[in-house]
Amino acid sequence: MKSNIVFVFVSLCSAVMNVLADERSFSIDYKNNRFLKDGKPFQYISGSIHYSRVPRCYWKDRLLKMYMTGLNAVQVYVPWNFHEPVQGIYKFEGDRDLEYFLDLANQTGLLVILRPGPYICAEWDMGGLPAWLLQNPDIILRSSDSDYLHAVSNWTAVLLTKVRSWLYQRGGNIISVQVENEYGSYFACDYNYMRHLHKLFRFFLGEDVVLFTTDGNTDKELVCGTLEGLYATIDFGTDTNVTTAFSRLRRFEPHGPLVNSEFYTGWLDHWGDRHASVNIQNVSTMLGHMLSMGASVNMYMFEGGTNFGYWNGADDDTRFRSVVTSYDYDAPLSEAGDPTDKLLAIREVIKNFREIPSGPLPPATPKMAYGFVNLQKIGNISGLLDTLSPQGPVQSQHLLTFEEMKQYYGFMLYRTKLPQDLPSATPLISPANGIHDRAYVSVNGVYQGVMERDVTLVVNVTGRLADQLDILVENMGRVNFGSKISDRKGLLGNLILGNDVLTDWLIYSLDIDEVIHSGWPQSMRKDIRSGSETDGGSGPTVYSGTLQLPGPAHDTFIRCHGWTKGQVWINGVNLGRYWPQRGPQQTLYVPGPLLSSTLPNNITLLELEEAPQHSRVLFMDRPLLNTTAAPP
Ligand SMILES: *[C@@H]1O[C@H](CO)[C@@H](O)[C@H](O)[C@H]1NC(C)=O
Ligand SMILES: *[C@@H]1O[C@H](CO)[C@@H](O)[C@H](O)[C@H]1NC(C)=O
Ligand SMILES: *[C@@H]1O[C@H](CO)[C@@H](O)[C@H](O)[C@H]1NC(C)=O
Ligand SMILES: *[C@@H]1O[C@H](CO)[C@@H](O)[C@H](O)[C@H]1NC(C)=O
Ligand SMILES: *[C@@H]1O[C@H](CO)[C@@H](O)[C@H](O)[C@H]1NC(C)=O
Ligand SMILES: *[C@@H]1O[C@H](CO)[C@@H](O)[C@H](O)[C@H]1NC(C)=O
Ligand SMILES: *[C@@H]1O[C@H](CO)[C@@H](O)[C@H](O)[C@H]1NC(C)=O
Ligand SMILES: *[C@@H]1O[C@H](CO)[C@@H](O)[C@H](O)[C@H]1NC(C)=O
Repeated sequence: MKSNIVFVFVSLCSAVMNVLADERSFSIDYKNNRFLKDGKPFQYISGSIHYSRVPRCYWKDRLLKMYMTGLNAVQVYVPWNFHEPVQGIYKFEGDRDLEYFLDLANQTGLLVILRPGPYICAEWDMGGLPAWLLQNPDIILRSSDSDYLHAVSNWTAVLLTKVRSWLYQRGGNIISVQVENEYGSYFACDYNYMRHLHKLFRFFLGEDVVLFTTDGNTDKELVCGTLEGLYATIDFGTDTNVTTAFSRLRRFEPHGPLVNSEFYTGWLDHWGDRHASVNIQNVSTMLGHMLSMGASVNMYMFEGGTNFGYWNGADDDTRFRSVVTSYDYDAPLSEAGDPTDKLLAIREVIKNFREIPSGPLPPATPKMAYGFVNLQKIGNISGLLDTLSPQGPVQSQHLLTFEEMKQYYGFMLYRTKLPQDLPSATPLISPANGIHDRAYVSVNGVYQGVMERDVTLVVNVTGRLADQLDILVENMGRVNFGSKISDRKGLLGNLILGNDVLTDWLIYSLDIDEVIHSGWPQSMRKDIRSGSETDGGSGPTVYSGTLQLPGPAHDTFIRCHGWTKGQVWINGVNLGRYWPQRGPQQTLYVPGPLLSSTLPNNITLLELEEAPQHSRVLFMDRPLLNTTAAPP
């Protein structure tokens, strides 16, 4: 197998060198409704992959599998908030090394269709916009609001200067660049904003690069999303009539190649919804149909990956629904990067249109079932604040949001005292639906219950005058689509307890990721042993344990069966949220390279509600993403 891959790379190199001898160009041939690459007709068969959802060490593997399926391009989003987490601080190292990703794609023989936003949707927190934008209470995102445009201009200057040398015309592999994303589906419909972006992109990338827009398949979206000078493309899935969709596109872009920028191979899941899937036969039939019309097609997604940490987005149409940790998407390559039957079917279709690289498709990476690991209780959050919030609380008469506290993700704790004796159950109410997004309520460390945005705005509380009321608030991911993307987090409106408006807060930012990353709680192992309790418990509590591998480290899947809801870290890396009670996702993907084959692997859980009596987790060799199909 190895020698075949080498052969592919050698033949690829010489092909590219021949091209380099000529003038490199990529353009639109309006007369003949096609793209031209180096002056020759060109049709792209592309797939979406988000480098921010795949560990860096697997980028090459996924790209090679895409190349060996017969794709000639990949379509790539750049999430602004991933690269500028704090205003003015830019990160492009490690898992954020965009240029390394572009380089790997180039080495593999894949062209790149770049989607730098600044808004990307992508079911990613806030559609890729940085939450620090929300420190300005009046900002109108995705519009010509001057504060928003200043931030966009700064970011665009940094990003586009970096990618300029990767343009195809300049010897790189980026053939085209998308401006904004599905702008026509946003309420603002602000042409001045799109004109501003157009100017910025031209300024940094030059006049000869193909700039384009992508919009949904309705007139309204194409009216507000398209702009003179930006080539219009459309996106749709198997539930749409190809002829109807492309003739709609023709009304807005009468000449040039037909492009479906997001042909949906699958779909995403939300917590509490049924597991989504898209039929293989429908995908391959429609792909063949579009390619035979000469259309260029990008499959969204080809490799979905994972919403590690807190990066998932959310929808807020009829009610707030956050996206699950897995972004498997029922895509041709699974979340763990394995070829599926859908991939094989797509490859058969592509064979009818272009030559597939010779040599075998790289196989699935091995998966291991490492079995059960017992966890021990470290302590409840109220008792761990000295460790988890080393900088201490901010004192405030009124509630402050996450954004006001400059904590953008994860958890914050709001503490105050009960204003009177509450011998019988007394309602604690969020009258303005201001719980963003879940609030875990305790009195003197005793768990009282949970409040949830749009669903549960009252919880009963008992206690005595001056007892400590702790409310741990979880940010479940910001809305990534529609008019409600200014999705501030925390407790947004006053809380009322009985007849009292609660005031005089101590507000703790939790630095739990940094603390766990630096070795806690395993670094104080003795304390764990002496203080260990194995029974279940309720309320936000940290648990920990270790997994010693019997052999080499492979990909595996952790199942938190019987646990309720929380977050899991392995060796300091935040793998994402688990919520088996809500489903449909039941296991979390654990990339093998994260594990040590010799050292004990450190597992930490923050269980927010109710831990099971057994206090253990299970490492399995396959994912369970569909509650109804999962064994008990
Ligand atoms: C843009 O960058 C300039 C210069 O670095 C800085 O002074 C300004 O605060 C930045 N503005 C925004 C909105 O990021
Ligand atoms: C892309 O790959 C080709 C072939 O390996 C190489 O000649 C070229 O220099 C690469 N481009 C960049 C920008 O690295
Ligand atoms: C799509 O619509 C066209 C024109 O309205 C119709 O002729 C065709 O049968 C439809 N195709 C499918 C697959 O339904
Ligand atoms: C395939 O597409 C057809 C036409 O849109 C639809 O009627 C059918 O339900 C789809 N099949 C599956 C299994 O999704
Ligand atoms: C929470 O932790 C603190 C400190 O360890 C402890 O004193 C308290 O009893 C715990 N509360 C509950 C309800 O377990
Ligand atoms: C709160 O307690 C009251 C009785 O004091 C009860 O009627 C009500 O159902 C309880 N509400 C909730 C949300 O548990
Ligand atoms: C787990 O934590 C222990 C104690 O801090 C440390 O010695 C060990 O190296 C950690 N394991 C890994 C794989 O990092
Ligand atoms: C989920 O599992 C149920 C039960 O096996 C099955 O009927 C359903 O089709 C599955 N859903 C998906 C999307 O695979």
